Amino acid sequence: MEDTRILSANELNTDFDLEETIRPQVLDEYVGQDSLKDNLRIYIKAALERDESLDHTLLYGPPGLGKTTLAYIIANEMHTNVKVASGPSITKAGELASILSVLEAGDVLFIDEIHRLPKTVEEVLYPAMEDFELDIMAGSESGQGRSVRLTIQPFTLVGATTRAGDLSSPLRDRFGIVSKLDYYTNEQLESIVKRTARVLDVEIEDEAVAEIAKRSRGTPRIANRLLRRIRDFAQVLNNGVITKQVTDEALERLHVDALGLDEVDIRYLRGIIERFKGGPVGLDALANAISEESTTLEDVYEPYLIQIGFVNRTSRGRVVTEKAYDHLKITRNDTLF
Ligand SMILES: Nc1ncnc2c1ncn2[C@@H]1O[C@H](COP(=O)(O)OP(=O)(O)O)[C@@H](O)[C@H]1O
Ligand SMILES: [Mg+2]
Repeated sequence: MEDTRILSANELNTDFDLEETIRPQVLDEYVGQDSLKDNLRIYIKAALERDESLDHTLLYGPPGLGKTTLAYIIANEMHTNVKVASGPSITKAGELASILSVLEAGDVLFIDEIHRLPKTVEEVLYPAMEDFELDIMAGSESGQGRSVRLTIQPFTLVGATTRAGDLSSPLRDRFGIVSKLDYYTNEQLESIVKRTARVLDVEIEDEAVAEIAKRSRGTPRIANRLLRRIRDFAQVLNNGVITKQVTDEALERLHVDALGLDEVDIRYLRGIIERFKGGPVGLDALANAISEESTTLEDVYEPYLIQIGFVNRTSRGRVVTEKAYDHLKITRNDTLF
């Protein structure tokens, strides 16, 4: 008889749950970022041997490269708990103070999008990071606030940001470890795709692995996302086996091109070419023309387009390169000279 039972909420496998199951838990499972990993191993070992908390760590780089994952791994490797917060969600100094005051010795406090912490909140962090102390304003009977200094447990702040440049220098200077995450090579993405396929218990051909890696914009999150979507196609169209053919077909339907550029990448490039004669054009004018947020373009799309040499950032604005024209098969017919 068919199972017609309705799944309860916690039995449903949402993308969010999947995200959590495929996240590597320890440094050895974390692919790539080798020099960062090697250094972290040493810092972690040294801190454990001295029975100290790890130095505050700032991780920066484009979305999907593994900052959050690494924050959890650091807590795991240090055998401590992780508390999670995000810059825009902490609006008042008191909120951060209460998070800090309940930390246990050695805990990792992970603050995502740390560049978006309000200034007044950020100032609470300075003495906390430096001396594990909190300055709080205690209201007194006479109605006059006075500052009280509280000692908190030693902890490790792990901050993540897509824009290290937006961090104030007093905050940046208080991180002992500052690391940039790089885009992944195809080879590294292949091993991530293979690992995820194993975790999801799905059969995949080597050629399909290679194709997914090639089209993931150097980004693990995209590789995993494509794999999950292709798995759906394989399940419905191909008895669950991910072949090269199913992969090509699915990627075609997902509008992911041969280099992994998606519709926004293409609109970005075409926008500059068609509306601004290939540039230079300022970011805001371009964002306006293609109806995207300029911060999204700058944080999510541009870094990869620059990395693959399709866009240059000049002092006068963004310029599309010959390589991008070739990829889009657009002939450059303007009178440049
Ligand atoms: N180095 C890595 N090795 C294996 N998988 C990774 C790696 N980095 C990221 N991932 C995968 O990509 C997903 C996105 O990573 P995440 O840490 O959320 O990125 P970020 O916080 O930088 O936006 C994670 O769920 C994880 O499964
Ligand atoms: Mg993250």
